[in-house]
Amino acid sequence: MSCLREYLARRLEDWELRILPGSYDIVGDIAIIRIPNALRHRAEEIAKAIMEINSHVRTVLNQVSPVSGSFRLRRLEWIMGDKRTVTIHREYGCLFKVDLEKCYFSPRLSYERYRVAELVRPSETVINMFAGVGCFSILIAKRSKADKVYSIDLNPWAIKYAIENIRLNRVEHVVEAILGDAKTIIKERLLETADRVLMPLPEKAYEYLDYAIDALKPNGGMIHYYDFTHAGRNEDPICKVKEKISRKLNKFGIDFKVEFGRIVRTVGPRWFQVVLDVRVNKRIKRADL
Ligand SMILES: C[S@@+](CC[C@H](N)C(=O)[O-])C[C@H]1O[C@@H](n2cnc3c(N)ncnc32)[C@H](O)[C@@H]1O
Repeated sequence: MSCLREYLARRLEDWELRILPGSYDIVGDIAIIRIPNALRHRAEEIAKAIMEINSHVRTVLNQVSPVSGSFRLRRLEWIMGDKRTVTIHREYGCLFKVDLEKCYFSPRLSYERYRVAELVRPSETVINMFAGVGCFSILIAKRSKADKVYSIDLNPWAIKYAIENIRLNRVEHVVEAILGDAKTIIKERLLETADRVLMPLPEKAYEYLDYAIDALKPNGGMIHYYDFTHAGRNEDPICKVKEKISRKLNKFGIDFKVEFGRIVRTVGPRWFQVVLDVRVNKRIKRADL
């Protein structure tokens, strides 16, 4: 992928090469690139180069807006190839069908999905609060011996594809897709149910942390908490997120331990997406310690 600039070196001018994006995503057989406005006149040449470098790519789309809104969607414009936004992506032996215009999907979370799936122990019950088309949920069902995975999403299109993906990957006996607000679904039917809760929506995880705790079994369990943070040169992004959630959990009087933390990806200049694996013990209240 890094060779796009080299590939176009003789066809674009120096100033154009300087603003050519350094990377692009490939989801199934669709490539998505963010071409700056000043380079729009070169969109077709760039798309052609991407298709030549990646012979399995059938469609190239230009992302013309940031990911936004509750459903975490972005506007995509067709540049070249088949005129479609639906594709099937393969990841760690799983197949994920997705409409990139109607649902969130990022191949950049691939390792994080694998990492979490590897942590799941036999007979666990897992709740994925912000599940999209079911990637974490299905990977967990495929790679672990989890008893049950509840895969919640607010976007009806994401749930439609999650149901299709559950069938495609033959995990109907483990994964249940549920349409709705994770808050409401937990309050109405999943209180004290889970050994493990996933919160892969950094924009809402902090606000929904209480519901994740309510969803854990009476003994407690593990929460995979995702957040965005800005960190200056002398700051550690993982420590910043740790401090932020520690303040909230201490206020609740909850006994917890952050067992692991990592930067999932960089999302802007000194902006980071961070995950913390937080072990919660609901039997011990802080006041008892
Ligand atoms: C960042 S995406 C999740 C990505 C997914 N885990 C994956 O690996 O592809 C966040 C998802 O949360 C959903 N969402 C937003 N608010 C929600 C809520 N209150 N309850 C449940 N799902 C919600 C969005 O529709 C979106 O699909």
